Amino acid sequence: MIIAASTDYRAAARRRLPPFLFHYIDGGAYAEQTLRRNVADLEGIALRQRVLRDVADLDLSTELFGERLAFPAALAPVGLSGMYARRGEVQAARAAASRGIPFTLSTVSVCAIEEVAPAIDRPMWFQLYVLRDRGFMRAALERAQAAGCSTLVFTVDMPTPGARYRDAHSGMSGPNAAMRRLWQAATHPRWAWDVGLHGRPHDLGNISAYRGTATGLADYIGWLGANFDPSISWKDLEWIRAFWRGPMVIKGILDPDDARDAVRFGADGIVVSNHGGRQLDGVLSTAHALPAIADAVGGSLKILADSGVRSGLDIVRMLALGADAVLLGRAFVYALAAAGQAGVAHLLDLLQQEMRVAMTLTGARTVAAIGRDTLVAPPR
Ligand code: FNR
Repeated sequence: MIIAASTDYRAAARRRLPPFLFHYIDGGAYAEQTLRRNVADLEGIALRQRVLRDVADLDLSTELFGERLAFPAALAPVGLSGMYARRGEVQAARAAASRGIPFTLSTVSVCAIEEVAPAIDRPMWFQLYVLRDRGFMRAALERAQAAGCSTLVFTVDMPTPGARYRDAHSGMSGPNAAMRRLWQAATHPRWAWDVGLHGRPHDLGNISAYRGTATGLADYIGWLGANFDPSISWKDLEWIRAFWRGPMVIKGILDPDDARDAVRFGADGIVVSNHGGRQLDGVLSTAHALPAIADAVGGSLKILADSGVRSGLDIVRMLALGADAVLLGRAFVYALAAAGQAGVAHLLDLLQQEMRVAMTLTGARTVAAIGRDTLVAPPR
């Protein structure tokens, strides 16, 4: 299979993965309207071509939370990555480090903090969910700090999980799920050999270390379901602010008023995100939500954006709409599933190449030079 563009990895992942995993990654909540809008709205943002502006000496690098990034992106927290490739979090973290960008470990990763952090030579970021079990949260923060994690990404758009109907159809959940998953694994032998057999243990490293018991896929869904906390409010975050020594980023902001609250709270950054269309279907795409948020809080904290970024051109678009950097979600997960560490490293090279061409032809020599006038007409 030929991988020419960053977007080619999706088809490669589809061939390799058992369907329950492919659809878990690829799917969204309810009718998947927001999922589709994220991609379509971003693609629909027209870049403004400029010529003869001497952009021979391009510089894609940027600084974020005191760290140097080779280009303005980090890998998003993605749960269960160790099910998509053998010890997947370690492979993705190594690829990110080799290309000079941060990797974010999810709360619900297969590999524990202590397995991933020592495998790379730059500090990783750690993502925390709001869970009823505050003892778990405190222990996870202590472990992340002890392992040298630099930035905390605090995800606030999951006080309750959105329904993902595809999971019931694919065998991730629903009737006879375990039997269906077994059959799918048997009919995808490359995955079965590499991940199913040699990628064990398949538990949730951060959670099983805390609970002292192995946590399998079914336990994971049960434990998480019982632990989401819809009572959470800004004041519940204050102890974390006081406890965590590094930069703190609030992930899951989609409204300018919430962004202003994040500034008042003292966050160092926000991630403008609708969780990749996996939570509340029908909300705005991030491409359409971002400009008003950037107008409201730009300059007061760092703005990251995700949901729908699939190419280097999309990174330029998000920056033009007001982001300082993007998080890559599905874009890197498809590459991880298709070809492991080498696939993610290759994807990051492709994204940078695509960014270079977009910057050259929009006349932006540096990341800071990408702004609203990089676009033909900003969306309303
Ligand atoms: C996610 N996302 C996510 N976010 C988070 O804060 N913690 C997590 O554990 C997960 N897990 C997760 C699993 C899978 C399979 C996906 C696809 C996504 C959301 C993720 O960080 C990011 O916000 C979205 O992936 C961005 O959307 P796109 O770019 O993937 O469409």
